[in-house]
Amino acid sequence: MEKIIINTPFSRSEIWVGEKWESVSRLLPEKGVVIITDENISRLYGDRFPDFPVLTVTPGEGSKKLEVVERLAEKLLESGIDRTGFILAIGGGVVCDLAGFLSSIYMRGIGCGYVSTSLLSQVDASTGGKNGVNLGSTKNMLGIIRQPDFVLCDPAMLITLNDQEYLSGLAELIKTAVIGDRDLFDLIEKNFDEIINRNSDLLTQLVAKSVNFKAAVVSEDERETGLRRILNFGHTYGHAVELQKSVKHGFAVASGMELATDFSFEKGLISLEEKTRIVNLLLRFGLLDKHDIPDDMIEKLISHDKKKAGSDINFVFTEGIGKAVVKKVSVSEVIDFYKRFRDK
Ligand SMILES: NC(=O)c1ccc[n+]([C@@H]2O[C@H](COP(=O)([O-])OP(=O)(O)OC[C@H]3O[C@@H](n4cnc5c(N)ncnc54)[C@H](O)[C@@H]3O)[C@@H](O)[C@H]2O)c1
Repeated sequence: MEKIIINTPFSRSEIWVGEKWESVSRLLPEKGVVIITDENISRLYGDRFPDFPVLTVTPGEGSKKLEVVERLAEKLLESGIDRTGFILAIGGGVVCDLAGFLSSIYMRGIGCGYVSTSLLSQVDASTGGKNGVNLGSTKNMLGIIRQPDFVLCDPAMLITLNDQEYLSGLAELIKTAVIGDRDLFDLIEKNFDEIINRNSDLLTQLVAKSVNFKAAVVSEDERETGLRRILNFGHTYGHAVELQKSVKHGFAVASGMELATDFSFEKGLISLEEKTRIVNLLLRFGLLDKHDIPDDMIEKLISHDKKKAGSDINFVFTEGIGKAVVKKVSVSEVIDFYKRFRDK
């Protein structure tokens, strides 16, 4: 078990990795707690939830909208939750984003903690304090950055995750390795079978490494004015694929990482050997697919990217496994590269 701390100017968050999720009760206030979860998690784990009222949402991205936040807020009010109240989210990235956002705005902010149940949320979504909901089809448009009081990641919960969701989370783990942790990359490369078999001890080690890296980045740059941008590696093209092709977040990011790695190679930032290692690892886990996005659509999607600043994009490149760098690149250069990448 490992406890990782995020310290930012206004908050402190504890992330427990490798801890049994049932031990969450010791982190909760004695009263005023409401649990938010989704129907899948409630079915699988609800009988072992701490003894507090439970609000359940429909699983999936469709629940990340203001309407659901409003409905949940009404339920909190009906349950008599006041400023001393506390929300415990038990779920994947959707439940944590939703509950984190609700806790940030309900009565101008109440306490919140997460039991993070999917690999994607354990290695990425539940660390760093970003929360929020979608606005129509535009992802994460309404939200704020506010650290939860704690996050608990129990690898035993990952056993019940379906293969696609598990692999989607693995893509974000590989992203962390590429941008910041060469040892993590080696560990993933060497332990293919154990990862596929979801070996709990190994998963604890991998999740802890990923959380440690993200926690260090967020502690230095919570508001994403500099260093935190590297976490967007693979996300410029990844978000375009996610929106256009409706593939799961991690698979879309994997395609984005392939493009960003190729782009890094073209710019002379990474060797052929390292480029091949990154792409082969993504291929080995079945994370890559060819996506053919029409020219007018790719222009529209990349021009709307949140990482855009004027006619430039803060594009994240790799400078070798374990190192990332952000460079301003014109939108047209990114689009030109995409066309060459797609047609090769
Ligand atoms: N806040 C951030 O920094 C951040 C970062 C990355 C992604 N995200 C967000 O996270 C969301 C994706 O997260 P996700 O992939 O966890 O999605 P999710 O919460 O929808 O979970 C995926 C599916 O797996 C099920 N599930 C979760 N844990 C399970 C378990 N232990 N056993 C069985 N089934 C389980 C869920 O019910 C759901 O059907 C997206 O909305 C994305 O925008 C946020």
